[in-house]
Amino acid sequence: MCGIIGVTGEADAVPLLLGALHQLEYRGYDSAGIAMVVDGESADAGAGAGPGPAGAIWRVRAAGGTDSVAKLAELAADAPQGHHAAIGHTRWATHGSPTAENAHPHTDCTGRLAIIHNGIIENHAELRAELEAAGHTLTSATDTEVMAHLIEQDMAGGASLPEATRSMLRRVRGAFSIAAISADEPDTIVAARRSTPLVLGLHDGMALLASDIPALIGHTRRVFALADDELAVLRPGSLEVTTLDGVAVEPEQLTITWDVEAAQKGGFADFMSKEMHEQPDAVADTLLDRRGRGGELILDEMRLSADDLRAIDKVFIVACGSSYHAALVAKYAIEHWVKVPVEVDIASEFRYRDPVLNGRTLCVGVSQSGETLDTSEAVREAARLGAKVLVVSNVVDSSMARAADGVLYTRAGPEIGVASTKCHLAQIVALEVLGLYLAQILGTQPASKINEILNAMEVLPGLITEALARAGDVDDVASKLTDARDFFFLGRHVGYPVALEGALKLKELAYLRAEGYPAGELKHGPIALIEPGTVVVGIATRNPLWEKMLSNVAEVRSRGATVVLVADDGDEESAAVADHVLWVPPTYPLIAPVIGVVPLQQLAYRLARLHGHDPDRPRNLAKTVTVE
Ligand code: G6P
Repeated sequence: MCGIIGVTGEADAVPLLLGALHQLEYRGYDSAGIAMVVDGESADAGAGAGPGPAGAIWRVRAAGGTDSVAKLAELAADAPQGHHAAIGHTRWATHGSPTAENAHPHTDCTGRLAIIHNGIIENHAELRAELEAAGHTLTSATDTEVMAHLIEQDMAGGASLPEATRSMLRRVRGAFSIAAISADEPDTIVAARRSTPLVLGLHDGMALLASDIPALIGHTRRVFALADDELAVLRPGSLEVTTLDGVAVEPEQLTITWDVEAAQKGGFADFMSKEMHEQPDAVADTLLDRRGRGGELILDEMRLSADDLRAIDKVFIVACGSSYHAALVAKYAIEHWVKVPVEVDIASEFRYRDPVLNGRTLCVGVSQSGETLDTSEAVREAARLGAKVLVVSNVVDSSMARAADGVLYTRAGPEIGVASTKCHLAQIVALEVLGLYLAQILGTQPASKINEILNAMEVLPGLITEALARAGDVDDVASKLTDARDFFFLGRHVGYPVALEGALKLKELAYLRAEGYPAGELKHGPIALIEPGTVVVGIATRNPLWEKMLSNVAEVRSRGATVVLVADDGDEESAAVADHVLWVPPTYPLIAPVIGVVPLQQLAYRLARLHGHDPDRPRNLAKTVTVE
């Protein structure tokens, strides 16, 4: 997600800001910007700041993907001398395209205030309407900009920057880490956070803040954590931390033993581990901001009208790899909730057969990158045949998202590990939200039922955290399977795509032969391969076919297979037919894959490590496949 840096007490702030933004590049970004309070007249290379009595805000912003920090450096070469408080940002778009106008920092109407933000403001639409009605002019499509104008209102009434920020934070809902500066208080930065990271630093007459430790390591090892709902006032050489209610608190000092590379991985051994641990946030962020006041679903980016959707009589979902498995989970959910036929196809096959589509078909392309050639060509073919095209992507304004009639973004943040983890979970959630939205529009489920499922989805992040915490149990099972060479992953109902994903992870990370199969189909052939030494991993979380699943497991066990089952906590009946159990917290069956896949990611990860393979760099694989 977005990267944040801020410093006060540094007379030449530009090199520090740019250096820190470089250190945050691993987070991924599509645009970047910096703003500073400078002496004298204002200058804004991006958009309209005005001159003011006590110095002015100077700001530059640049779009252009991973070139944007380099572009920023060119623009910043003309920065005036005499820097006071300074902030910088790399943006990973969520609300609004990755353009220079939407890049942070954002300013208020006077141009004397600038703010940067990481996270999502859920009630931005209603705040925007209120501010516009009060005469404010907002110049970007971001959720962030409303915060600048809210602070402006209070400062116009005489409040200080910390007071005005505090009162703004009482008005916003959602997740944020922010830093704000004002030309009226040249050496002050006000920072706060809720649910997204922010760290503070002190060094020789300076005070710093950043979204992440790597940005600070080059400057100081005196690093402090800011907790949820705390506000920090940074002045040269000093930090003052209070709760949002104004009660003073002592920030916790962190012991930094990492070098920059380790810090970029957040202290994890590799990006895959880090990204697996980001899964609760990926799911929570994908769900944020999707419900109106009455609890009904609102999909802002969707663009397809209710009438378009009411006309739909068939859904095709096309994707590759882990995205294809997410689509398979969605098929069960959408058919059950919406009662329209859903066909899921591997993109590279879909585009070369003669799929039957027309204006009443909704074709959903699912792609983390939004650039995978097979998927983009498949949705292009669907559009040519007259279908309505919706894209589920993790990259705002990816080429697929731009070409589609509508889009639904997963908000997993950039994924660096080649084998998809957090994006896969976010895709399942986004596709199921789409299913519930269709059910709402088509009236195939009562509002109470949709509400009940959404409520169950909203507790998924906590359940994923619980599942992740059991990595040690998975490691124990993995250590007993180091000699195994043949794996079958079996599931039924939504457990089937989970089995496919578990097998794919094991192939791509541990280079072990693994077949994913619908358990009921086993007796039609593959059971001939089961013998002592074969490992069968079964998905036995409760779903309508759970009992049948256990019968299938009994069949392979009686033929000598070693059975590992993913089972709901306390399910002794499943445990009775297994050699090893990977326990997961239970949830509503149609959303259970979001939890069930977690121990399978961990199993593949651990076996990869035990076989000496680097999970971040699986052989022969690429993160984004732009060839056929
Ligand atoms: C590659 C990656 C997978 C990913 C697949 C589809 O194979 O290694 O992790 O699932 O592409 O990518 P997409 O960006 O379209 O979701």
